[in-house]
Amino acid sequence: MAATLDINGKTVTVNADPATPLLWVLRDEVGLTGAKFGCGVAQCGACTVHVDGQPIRSCVTPIEGLSGVKITTIEGLGGAHPLQQAWVKHDVPQCGYCQSGQIMSAAALIAQNTAPSDEDIDNAMSGNICRCGTYQRIRAAIKDAASGGLGTVAAAGKPHADIDEAIAAASGATARGTGR
Ligand code: FES
Ligand code: FES
Repeated sequence: MAATLDINGKTVTVNADPATPLLWVLRDEVGLTGAKFGCGVAQCGACTVHVDGQPIRSCVTPIEGLSGVKITTIEGLGGAHPLQQAWVKHDVPQCGYCQSGQIMSAAALIAQNTAPSDEDIDNAMSGNICRCGTYQRIRAAIKDAASGGLGTVAAAGKPHADIDEAIAAASGATARGTGR
């Protein structure tokens, strides 16, 4: 069955059963593989995307009911979002698998709160699990991006190849594996 969705500002028609979780439509129908499958039951946050600016778990969100809303994925942040720059500056990702979900939850937070406290961050990020334990770097990067105190990525001493790799890692496509 055809469904029309607004994904990253583009109108996309997909052929999928209305009960299909958004995550599968994004990955298998639309080719946006930044959002990851971790648990499939809304417990890990790896699949986090935005619906009208709010973070949702796409693994448990059927596409029925999503017509007329704006869906944003990690790809929709464009690669130079302040959080993505902060992720590079703070070398946040380790394996990278959870990181697109982490960034999407963080993006929703700093869109509403430009000076999040540790408690604000913990509350906003509590549904995003990192098996590699990158939580301290995530917190530092969120504070940096929220405050606008990033400086430039170049100032952090990163050659471009590293920047590209780190952004890719933050989207789950690392040089050590695609994370697909
Ligand atoms: S895969 Fe969706 S919350 Fe874990
Ligand atoms: S960086 Fe490996 S699970 Fe978070």
